Amino acid sequence: MKTTSLFIVLILSSSWAASADEQDHFLHCLSQTCHNYSSISNVVYTPSNSSYTSILESSIRNTRFLSESTPKPQVIITPDHETQIPPVILCAKQSGLEIRTRSGGHDMEGLSYVSQVPFAIVDLVNLSQVTVDVDEKTAWIGAGASTGVVYYRIAEKSPTLAFPGSICTWVGVGGHYSRGGYGALLRKYGLAADNVIDMRIVNVNGNILDRESMGEDLFWAIRGGGGASFGVITAWKVQLVDVPETVTVFSITRSVEEQNGAELWQRWQYVAPQADKDLFVGVIVFRVNTTVLVNFFSVYQGGADILVSYMQEIFPELGLVREDCTEMSWIQSTLFSNQMPIDQLDAVLNRTQPGLRQLKAKSDYVQTPLPLNVIEDMVSMLREPEADETNYYMVPYGGIMEEISEFETPFPHRAGALYQLAGLTYWQDSEAADTDRY
Ligand SMILES: Cc1cc2nc3c(=O)[nH]c(=O)nc-3n(C[C@H](O)[C@H](O)[C@H](O)COP(=O)(O)OP(=O)(O)OC[C@H]3O[C@@H](n4cnc5c(N)ncnc54)[C@H](O)[C@@H]3O)c2cc1C
Ligand SMILES: *[C@@H]1O[C@H](CO)[C@@H](O)[C@H](O)[C@H]1NC(C)=O
Ligand SMILES: *[C@@H]1O[C@H](CO)[C@@H](O)[C@H](O)[C@H]1NC(C)=O
Ligand SMILES: *[C@@H]1O[C@H](CO)[C@@H](O)[C@H](O)[C@H]1NC(C)=O
Ligand SMILES: *[C@@H]1O[C@H](CO)[C@@H](O)[C@H](O)[C@H]1NC(C)=O
Ligand SMILES: *[C@@H]1O[C@H](CO)[C@@H](O)[C@H](O)[C@H]1NC(C)=O
Repeated sequence: MKTTSLFIVLILSSSWAASADEQDHFLHCLSQTCHNYSSISNVVYTPSNSSYTSILESSIRNTRFLSESTPKPQVIITPDHETQIPPVILCAKQSGLEIRTRSGGHDMEGLSYVSQVPFAIVDLVNLSQVTVDVDEKTAWIGAGASTGVVYYRIAEKSPTLAFPGSICTWVGVGGHYSRGGYGALLRKYGLAADNVIDMRIVNVNGNILDRESMGEDLFWAIRGGGGASFGVITAWKVQLVDVPETVTVFSITRSVEEQNGAELWQRWQYVAPQADKDLFVGVIVFRVNTTVLVNFFSVYQGGADILVSYMQEIFPELGLVREDCTEMSWIQSTLFSNQMPIDQLDAVLNRTQPGLRQLKAKSDYVQTPLPLNVIEDMVSMLREPEADETNYYMVPYGGIMEEISEFETPFPHRAGALYQLAGLTYWQDSEAADTDRY
């Protein structure tokens, strides 16, 4: 008897391993493990479900990973309650499927929805509720929410509360907060992760933990160490921050060829990281036809008159005047930073990012200002034909980032990091054959 059943087990296990039907094993396990299978079966998609492809592609933000050769998941689960996640984790382990967890899908290398081994995607798109408590100045945020939805829900409740998250309002909070997360309030309030005060996560054993039950070590690690290293985060509790009713923005552009753009960029390195915490001035450098342009984009936590006189004091070379500045609410400034019309606030609720292309990006932290000759070399690289949709994107650090210890969270770029310098290059799908050149 014993020999026979062992034989059967061997046959069964080798057959499902060898013929790659992890998927059948997973679905069978799920139907056995879930107390109420019908409540989860309507959030489980395999390639035979008609909406499988649209769900898979709905959060692919880098069209490089829309190609047919990109490995596809055997199953996608879109939980609408956190209690559905433990059986998914346990059954994925039993069936030999790795899990990729996806919130906003903005990972630059598709890590939330691509794997080289058989895998399942847990897509948190429907765990995206945001509950704001104005009196406590806190919010609980479902991991599948985008940062734009968070900003909108806060502004709905109060014009003088905010949260320091990404500039890009399409980014998901699951990946963003667990990796640090910077935006225009970084110099005043630090990273998104610095303002997380509690969270809920499902760990590898299928246990649902909050800050108290996970302990301070794990709580430390997740705020910068990447969520997927530790489990599936289902929600964050964050501390909201104060903003004035009126902030001021500007976006001004100087060409390298005729308006000293390169010299201004060089000078910016000495100004922006040292400036008052209320001032954020980022830089984007890009080429239009044969002209290289240096754009300075800013959000100031105060009124325009003070900003203009302060800029004339610390950065007179830029020549900022009152007409360059616009006063608005903080929520409007989040739209302004994404070149969206500021009178249509609910546009940030739209998860679909316009103009998706193929993308490759890298970033680094500058500790010593670049000399002008290096800046000129970087400008020359933008003149190459492949760089027609390339930009350098610079985010000033300093301010409170200097005051937070590099051990406070796993995110170490604090004192001494002048600014983050990213290089992003985009190309159209029609140019995909030339991917390596880009
Ligand atoms: C166009 C664009 C603009 C950006 N702008 C900014 C910016 O202004 N500021 C900034 O700081 N960053 C910015 N980023 C980077 C972005 O914050 C990170 O890529 C972030 O990880 C994206 O989070 P996501 O949830 O959208 O990504 P996903 O692709 O869903 O996930 C990213 C990673 O986190 C893991 N993960 C996601 N959700 C969870 C979860 N719930 N539990 C556990 N692990 C999870 C994934 O498995 C993956 O490894 C930008 C990226 C892009 C493409
Ligand atoms: C099972 O889940 C379905 C869908 O959520 C629900 O309608 C049904 O009442 C549940 N059944 C039991 C026995 O809980
Ligand atoms: C996917 O198809 C299976 C089998 O036909 C079905 O049981 C399941 O409910 C479908 N899932 C969804 C989300 O429609
Ligand atoms: C889940 O999210 C998708 C995409 O946002 C949406 O179309 C769908 O209605 C959501 N389902 C539920 C049950 O909320
Ligand atoms: C760049 O070149 C294109 C095509 O020649 C032209 O249509 C466009 O106006 C130019 N843009 C600028 C800013 O000069
Ligand atoms: C959301 O944005 C996309 C991309 O800009 C657009 O095509 C779509 O119409 C928008 N949806 C809504 C409901 O506004």
